[in-house]
Amino acid sequence: MNEPLVLGIETSCDETGIGIVRGHTLLADAVASSVEEHARFGGVVPEVASRAHLEAMVPTLQRACDDAGIVLSDVDAIAVTAGPGLAGALLVGVAAAKSLSIALEKPLYGVNHLAAHVAVDQLEHGALPDPCLAMLVSGGHSSLLRVDDVTTSVTPLGATIDDAAGEAFDKVARLLGLPFPGGPHIDRVAREGNSVAIDFPRGLTSRKDLERHRFDFSFSGLKTAVARWVEAREASGEPVPVADVAAAFQEAVVDVLTRKAIDAAASEGIEDILIGGGVAANSRLRFLAEERAAAKGIRVRVPRPGLCTDNGAMVAVLGSEMVARGRVPSPLDLPADSSMPV
Ligand code: KG4
Ligand code: ZN
Repeated sequence: MNEPLVLGIETSCDETGIGIVRGHTLLADAVASSVEEHARFGGVVPEVASRAHLEAMVPTLQRACDDAGIVLSDVDAIAVTAGPGLAGALLVGVAAAKSLSIALEKPLYGVNHLAAHVAVDQLEHGALPDPCLAMLVSGGHSSLLRVDDVTTSVTPLGATIDDAAGEAFDKVARLLGLPFPGGPHIDRVAREGNSVAIDFPRGLTSRKDLERHRFDFSFSGLKTAVARWVEAREASGEPVPVADVAAAFQEAVVDVLTRKAIDAAASEGIEDILIGGGVAANSRLRFLAEERAAAKGIRVRVPRPGLCTDNGAMVAVLGSEMVARGRVPSPLDLPADSSMPV
C-alpha cells in the first residue's frame, strides 16, 4: 500500500508554507512570504504577518496541490505548526488545518515548529540517526537539542539567553545599512572582508560562564560591541569598513555556534549534528561546522537552504513521521501555543 499523503501547514512567523509529502518524498513545497512587507520596519510585525497569512492561505494551498498533482480529497492527514511562534500567525494556520480536517474527515496533527526544523532533513538525507544533536539557528530561536525520537523525545540542552542568532545578523545588518533580513547580506559582504581585522566578543565562553551556560548562547553583547565599534569609527570621521565588520561579526557568531554544538555532541556521545533554521544557510557556518566536526569524527547534516528556512514541507514530513509511528492525532480543539516547549 502507498504511504499516506500528508499536507503540512506552517504559519508561525512570516512565511505561509504548505508542503505535501508521501513518506519522505517531497511532492510540493509552496511558500508565500510577507518578508517584504516587514522590511521597512526592520523586523516582523505580528499584525501584518497574520493578515498576510490569511490572504496567502488559500492561493498557497491551491498552488501546493497543483504542484503535487493532487486534489485536497487525496490527502490522508493534515499537520500544522501549533507553536512556538507568533500567536496570531499560528492561529491562522491552526484554524485552516482544523477546517481541512473537519471537511476532509482526516486526522489532524499539531506539531512543534522546532521539531519540524529537525524532521525536514529526512527529505534530503533520509532517516535521522538516533540520537542526533540538532542546532537550530533562525530569527526566532537558537537552540541545541538532543533528538532521540523527533515525534516524542527532543530534549533541550541549551538556548540563547537573549537574542537569537538570526536576530543578531538582522540587527547588525541594519547597523551597517544592509537590507532586512540581513543574514544573507552579511554572508555575502563578509566574503570580501577580513574576519580577524576586529576582535569581537564571544558570548558565554569565559570559564565562569561555561560553568552555568555551557550550551547556551548570548548574542546581545556582541551586537552592542559592534554598535559601539561602528559609532566610534563614525565619530572619528573615518569610513566604516563594512566588509571587515560583517566578516568579524559573522566569525564571532559561527565560532561560538560551532564550538558549542560540537562540545554538546561530544559530551552526549553523539556522532551526528544536524543544523537547521534560516541561519543554517550561512556559508561560513556550514564550512566551519564541517571542518571542526570532521576533526572530531562527527558528521554534519544541513538541509539545502530552501528547507532550512520556514516552510510547509518540514511540517508535512514531521506529520508523516507521526502517522508512521502511530502517534495519536490532536483533538479538534487543538490550541495554538506561542511559547510551546519542544
Ligand atoms: O528560519 P527562518 O526563515 O525564520 C525564523 O526566524 O524562524 O530564519 C530567518 C533568519 C533571519 O534572521 C535571516 O537573517 C537568517 O535567518 N538568515 C541568515 C542567512 N540566511 C538567512 N543568517 C546568516 N546567513 C545567511 N546566509
Ligand atoms: Zn523557524
